[in-house]
Amino acid sequence: MPDPFGEDADTGKLYMCGIIGYTGHKNSLPVLIEGLRTLEYRGYDSAGVAVCTADGVIETVKSKGRIDLLQEKLDSLEKKVEGSCGIGHTRWATHGAPSDTNSHPHTAPSLALVHNGIIENYAEIEEMLVREGYTFYSETDTEAAAKLIDYYYKKVNDPVLAMFEAADVIRGSYAFGVMFCDFPGKIFAMRKDNPLIVASNDECGIIASDIPAILKHTNSYYQLEEGIVSVLCGSAIEFFDRTGKKADQKRLTVDWNVEQAQKGGFPHFMIKEIHEEPEAIRQTVSTRLGEDGLPLFGVHELDGDKLGKFKSIHIVACGTAMHAGLVGKAIIEKLARVSVDVDVASEFRYRDPILDPDDLVILLSQSGETADTLAALRHAKANGVCTLSIVNVIGSSVAREADCVLYTWAGPEISVASTKAYSVQCAMLYLFAIQLARVKGRLDDDEARELCRRLCEDMPAQVEKALELSRDVESIARNYLAVENLFFIGRGLDSALCPEASLKLKEISYIHSEAYAAGELKHGTISLIIEGTPVVALMTQERLCEKMISGIREVKSRGATVLAVTTKEIAEKYNIPADNTVILDNVDADFAAFPLATVIQLFAYHVAAQRGCDVDKPRNLAKSVTVE
Ligand code: F6R
Repeated sequence: MPDPFGEDADTGKLYMCGIIGYTGHKNSLPVLIEGLRTLEYRGYDSAGVAVCTADGVIETVKSKGRIDLLQEKLDSLEKKVEGSCGIGHTRWATHGAPSDTNSHPHTAPSLALVHNGIIENYAEIEEMLVREGYTFYSETDTEAAAKLIDYYYKKVNDPVLAMFEAADVIRGSYAFGVMFCDFPGKIFAMRKDNPLIVASNDECGIIASDIPAILKHTNSYYQLEEGIVSVLCGSAIEFFDRTGKKADQKRLTVDWNVEQAQKGGFPHFMIKEIHEEPEAIRQTVSTRLGEDGLPLFGVHELDGDKLGKFKSIHIVACGTAMHAGLVGKAIIEKLARVSVDVDVASEFRYRDPILDPDDLVILLSQSGETADTLAALRHAKANGVCTLSIVNVIGSSVAREADCVLYTWAGPEISVASTKAYSVQCAMLYLFAIQLARVKGRLDDDEARELCRRLCEDMPAQVEKALELSRDVESIARNYLAVENLFFIGRGLDSALCPEASLKLKEISYIHSEAYAAGELKHGTISLIIEGTPVVALMTQERLCEKMISGIREVKSRGATVLAVTTKEIAEKYNIPADNTVILDNVDADFAAFPLATVIQLFAYHVAAQRGCDVDKPRNLAKSVTVE
């Protein structure tokens, strides 16, 4: 696919939360609310604004939930919030559950601040500041940054310098928008590893986390460089470096409309989210690796002794999440030799499953609000079984109610069809499998460390390579636009990917497909293979290649047209009797699930997009299924 990004676009990075700031002559509040609404697409669980009056009084209003709730709260205030300078934020919880208190802006005596990113050493900073007499009210990492800047401001009496001093102490990533009571009408902005743009027109200055929020005002902007503080006052923008000298920044322009900008220039959220997979895997795994490169679960129930005692595991989930469970089963059983059942949550809850007190039930869910998964979790708990949830949304019901939780870091998933959330669920299950195998004495630390490295470093790189096949997959997909039925076949780990390949294609392209273990076709279903029936053969497992080739011959001799998805090594070594091939880079067989997942998602996407389907909102489907 053509690179939809300009030179400065942040391709494939996950930025949650949204920032907006306004300084001008009008009341800033309506501008902030409107800006926040254009950032809603990023996903959020709370929102807030801070407005500074001309005499330096900062009023902060924040609310858990939708922007409408924030607006209601603002409307209900007796004394209306008004001021020509303000900052606003939509929060996607990372540290601390969604709540009014944890929402941004966060305040300190001299300032209010909004933040995107993660302050890794917030606990150390807090400890230091508590000794200096500060009190903390929220569970967030951001409050530490607000108070740290305040602390330095009091020392150096210069807002720009105070921000640099604080930045020297902070480890992590940030985009900050700050208002100081002593500088009414001014916004101070700074960033590291998180985007922040500043812009102006003849009437006002704007800061924003991304382009959609500025388009109403202007299409030209500065992508703030790291190590620079920008000061906006009305339409005047200045940039300062660490020495206090004025700096230059390059002005950029964009010709996207709001919708194009929200999709980062991609035609659909789904393809944008597939491109976010490398970063999502990296973030999910790296947050659970210790400095020694080994898994660090830091959850009491999952510490060595307890983890080692689980006799068998039940993975319970719905749809795509359940399919990630199939991949998890393959890797947990292989590495840790612990038996794993995978259950559809809607069946688990009613079939009176056999649960032993020494079992572990793992619930997988992107949203954490799926009714069947939640009911299955409650059923397991009522039976006295330890529950672990692997969830993408912080503070969601499944996360809260499980005995322990491992969060995935896919960021908000907007497209109804789940893609990056599936990849990170698989990644977390791999990490879990490595840890379990280690605890069970099946992997020594060096072996475990090497597998973690492959997961955290090699897999994002492998997925990036798989993304480079997007154009090839797009042109192959053209052959499938008029197809009515299709089969996905595979063996071993590949067969665990087939149900997801099939679901993805069905739900967004409306083409019927079936997933079959390649060796099982001949037990009945092969009667459906006739002249021209399309079959997609997933074959990344070299030890099973000869068997796969026999399976391909079987269907080809009945007239099937076969597309094989394989690796370079296998394609070179074997004469695959397929009509077409998609060739992945060489990948360790046990890890092939990651690039393969990307390719099957690309396949479904390109078929659906070229059939003109409403890819991001397929008919009859909702993003979160909160009813039974
Ligand atoms: C398919 C899809 C669904 C979800 C399922 C569970 O693309 O998205 O099958 O995977 O509804 O949703 P979560 O993971 O939110 O529990």
